Amino acid sequence: QIYRIASIPGDGIGVDITEAALRVLATLSTTLGTFELETTTFDWSSANYLTRGHYMPEDGLTQLKAFDAIYFGAVGWPSVPDHISLWNLILPIRKALNQYVNVRPTRILAGTKSPLVGCERGDLDWVIVRENSEGEYAGQGGISHEHSDHAIGTELAIFTQVGIERIMRFAFETARSRPRKKLTMVTKSNAQRHGMVLWDRIFYEVAKGYEDVDIDKMLVDAMTVRMVLNPKSLDTIVATNLHADILSDLAAALSGSIGIAPSSNLDPTRKNPSMFEPIHGSAPDIAGKGIANPVGAFWSAAEMVRWLGEEKAADGLMRAIENVTAAGVSTKDLGGSADTKTVTDAVCKEIEKL
Ligand code: NAI
Ligand code: MG
Repeated sequence: QIYRIASIPGDGIGVDITEAALRVLATLSTTLGTFELETTTFDWSSANYLTRGHYMPEDGLTQLKAFDAIYFGAVGWPSVPDHISLWNLILPIRKALNQYVNVRPTRILAGTKSPLVGCERGDLDWVIVRENSEGEYAGQGGISHEHSDHAIGTELAIFTQVGIERIMRFAFETARSRPRKKLTMVTKSNAQRHGMVLWDRIFYEVAKGYEDVDIDKMLVDAMTVRMVLNPKSLDTIVATNLHADILSDLAAALSGSIGIAPSSNLDPTRKNPSMFEPIHGSAPDIAGKGIANPVGAFWSAAEMVRWLGEEKAADGLMRAIENVTAAGVSTKDLGGSADTKTVTDAVCKEIEKL
């Protein structure tokens, strides 16, 4: 089976970790011999935005539609305002390709440690299901009286019944597929009294079709406390675009480092390609040093291969990653001293043993 992959390394460490992930995928494909990847790289970066005036060309989204999946590094660089980079590349892709789900698993990998005292490997094993198409990132609003001393900014969050129902169904299916069958829904429906209240209501309506799933509801502020103090009490979590964005960085840090966490931007209808990327950004503070943790990129690559239907290859890649972390080969953010290349070489070696 041959899969066509669009690769968008982007900026900063996005470039390093994408290169590492493509090398690991190539090793996986050669070793197993069960599938092939035909990769096309797109140089849609902040540097090119500054010279060409755009991240992707006008037909960029149409070009992407021809692929089976998209592998993304990170976008954002200090020379371009972050709302410009995000809204010219990653957000249009998620929206135009109907990637309305963002799945963000986290757990403590073999040989690594949570910064939480007493939190053992099995105690933190979560999947955050993030609404990825609307909510607080709907992009609606504006600034009035902008060039005066009484400027007003509005940022409109939009929650539609269709949008809420489909993310809830996905979250319930995810919860049902996991051993504990447990789903926690997060909002801030005490202070935000419209869209969040609709979330709550639709959550309980959809729940009626999933009586085997154990449910509960949290306000997002209290949720941060529960994640830190009682990680074991959580399993699958569903939250809005903004809340899940924040909670998933916290989740990654609690499971060891933001550098290990993967994400899948999915179009569950499979009419468009889905996109896979680590949850972290371009990390300008460590860019160009060759020390970025590539594990989140590898895990994202495993999720991509799984989505394409290559379950065995995905499981093999995860085993290879954890054999390496278990052996203590890791980057500084995980407490080790290896660089990106050393970790990548080690994972490739483990893949060759599969
Ligand atoms: P960031 O995730 O890039 O970095 C936060 C901190 O975590 C930094 O100290 C960084 O060094 C560290 N870190 C991140 N990934 C790491 C890795 N793989 N290994 C080791 N350490 C790692 O978030 P920040 O600094 O807020 O954003 C930087 C840029 O990235 C901004 O332009 C932002 O807009 C963009 N961004 C892009 C995203 C995307 O493309 N999906 C997601 C998040 C941020
Ligand atoms: Mg984020």
